[in-house]
Amino acid sequence: MSLKTMLREDALKDHVVVITGGGTGLGRAMAEHCLRLGARVCITGRKLDVLERTAAEMSALGGEVFPFSCDVREVERVGALRDAVLAKWGRVDALVNNAAGNFISPTERLGSKAFQTIIDIVLMGTVNCTLAFGKQWIKAGEKDKCILNIVTTYAWTGSGYVAPSACAKAGVLALTRSLAAEWGKYGIRNNAIAPGPFPTKGAWSRLLPGELVEKFDMTKKVPLARMGRPGELADLATYLISPYSGYINGEVITIDGGEWLKGAGQFNLLDQIEPGMWDAIEQLVRGTKGS
Ligand code: HXC
Ligand code: NAP
Repeated sequence: MSLKTMLREDALKDHVVVITGGGTGLGRAMAEHCLRLGARVCITGRKLDVLERTAAEMSALGGEVFPFSCDVREVERVGALRDAVLAKWGRVDALVNNAAGNFISPTERLGSKAFQTIIDIVLMGTVNCTLAFGKQWIKAGEKDKCILNIVTTYAWTGSGYVAPSACAKAGVLALTRSLAAEWGKYGIRNNAIAPGPFPTKGAWSRLLPGELVEKFDMTKKVPLARMGRPGELADLATYLISPYSGYINGEVITIDGGEWLKGAGQFNLLDQIEPGMWDAIEQLVRGTKGS
């Protein structure tokens, strides 16, 4: 990944950012960008060994990283996370709800436990962290705080084969918009990012396992004909965390190369027509005049 960031190097100086699922994939990319911009970053996840390894590798970027193991489904542990960060740095400026669980499956193969597991991680995990940090900010009367939720584009379209994730992400999007309206008065902004395909190990091993990755080329669905780069998402995330986006509240920003719109537009499939055929097609259409 490029060392360059969109924002200038001290854009997040003195900021403390907590990133759930910050030990891997997109969470890690966002954590690295925050560090480059001068923030102190707490990365959380269930696996302490992964977090500690990531933190050690990231220390080369300078700044302070605090790895803390926390299952976002456990309310008490989330409280312990908040208390540990406050004890260490005395403040938290931004919470990034990025932790997620997902896998592909025909919905008729799922039991209620499978649904519950995904909803507990994605929706309730986001709720648990949001309440833990938000209540503390409100109680302390602290302002200029922000919550950034990572959703997906199927939060509003829905998607087959990942129905539990779609339900949970839709809930997170509703939470984002609800609290943008309700907590704005406390100086807490709530925004979301909806990424398209970013080929991380965590996502691809569960969504395109084995041969599926060759069989279903995701780049074909994207007008820009490529996948997302983690640094692109991290630039957007750090902008939304930073004071430069101080008047953005309740927004969901899509970063997908145009993927979901391509799937939605009724005639976008006409991309498949060879350019040389358009003269003949035009004649056919013009020939209908008066008929
Ligand atoms: C059917 C499954 C299943 C599968 C699990 N289950 N995997 N059912 N097909 N492939 C069922 C289990 O049988 C069980 O139900 C229930 O789900 C819970 O499974 P556990 O393995 O006990 O859960 P847990 O150990 O908590 O693990 C959670 C997990 C796992 C989600 C299943 O994959 C995980 O830890 N994931 C974290 C990282 C991750 O998913 N990253 C990808 C995010 S990508 P029963 O009834 O048998 O007890 C993403 C992007 C989307 O969100 C957009 C991309 C473009
Ligand atoms: P990832 O690497 O698998 O990230 C998921 C992270 O969540 C992991 O670090 C995992 O760490 C953590 N996590 C899972 N369950 C947890 C729990 N119960 N408590 C705490 N942490 C937990 O996948 P990713 O691709 O970077 O995904 C990051 C975010 O982007 C997710 O919200 C995902 O839905 C979203 N997204 C990704 C894509 C994409 O194409 N990659 C597209 C759209 C949206 P542990 O296993 O150690 O707990």
